[in-house]
Amino acid sequence: MRVESTVGLCFAGFGNVGQGLARILVRKERELAERWGLNCRTVAVVTRTRGAAVSRDGLSLAELLARAERGEQLGTDRITPVEAALLPQTDVVLDVTPTNLKTGEPGLSVTRAALGSGRSVVTSNKGPVSLALEELRELARERGACFRFEGSVMSGTPSLNLAMESLAGCDISHVQGIVNGTTNYILTRMEEGCEYGEALAEAQEKGYAEADPSGDVDGWDAAVKAQILASVVLGSPISLDAVDRTGISSITRSDVEAAASRGRRIKLIARAARTAGGVSASVSPTEIPLAHPLAGVGGATNALTFTTDNLRDVTIIGPGAGREETGQALLSDLIAVAAAERACGRFAAKAG
Ligand code: HSE
Repeated sequence: MRVESTVGLCFAGFGNVGQGLARILVRKERELAERWGLNCRTVAVVTRTRGAAVSRDGLSLAELLARAERGEQLGTDRITPVEAALLPQTDVVLDVTPTNLKTGEPGLSVTRAALGSGRSVVTSNKGPVSLALEELRELARERGACFRFEGSVMSGTPSLNLAMESLAGCDISHVQGIVNGTTNYILTRMEEGCEYGEALAEAQEKGYAEADPSGDVDGWDAAVKAQILASVVLGSPISLDAVDRTGISSITRSDVEAAASRGRRIKLIARAARTAGGVSASVSPTEIPLAHPLAGVGGATNALTFTTDNLRDVTIIGPGAGREETGQALLSDLIAVAAAERACGRFAAKAG
């Protein structure tokens, strides 16, 4: 018999990704309850530019989505994201604030506060993961909370959880692939004859690009994903500075066309590998032959190959960016958190 419980959600942020998750929660409410045992009550949504809404009895996500689509304020409650995270009705904090790789804020403070009070955090925000992974994991362990961040790499396509859960028991020595949707989309569109600026504008319009797209085109986003893969999958924590990084901002349409005339394609390839001294990680535009499996990975699709001892190479290909695509990552982590917390009857045990 499935034991039902309701998870109190606090959305820190409600941009592309937060709305993507909200749409799925609204559309699949019944299926999530019946098939996955996930019943949610949204108790707070706090944004930087569109106000905040709080209700201990639950907000209507459909109504919040309609307001966001109309460009309206979501609410007029005066509350900070940290205060909302610590509301007695909040069980799980969804950190969907924009990534800031220098400070991690505002997500880092919200995540620290939530985990410190025993509340679980599910996030797609790469800043806190890049800057404070070990601290946040330790805090979660100490407080018996969950800290999950599948959406930080390859959006909803399983990557971190695939490596850590489905490939449990494998020794992974090397990870390589395409991990940034925006740049892969731009390179694909340039090969189709589009100008760089036009392709970037399309990627922004489709919700693939970071709030500041230089994070994508200068290779920072792929570099932080290589850092996370090295730290989590290869088990060797490294800093973002240790990733050798080159982006695609200097690649022109004629470079793309010249590569095509040689039967090759330019892809932004991220790598992380065990070395004798620890781990190495890099991101660079790389010309690959058309027959190479990564050459056929176009648009915002991503691909990662894990080189393992027990299975040799395991490759996963799927969406790497997008609103609902990243919302799916948060949803799968949320289902895992709800199952874990339900298993130990924990939803009432947090500090106020
Ligand atoms: N800007 C990122 C990308 C979003 O294009 O891949 C997903 O992390």
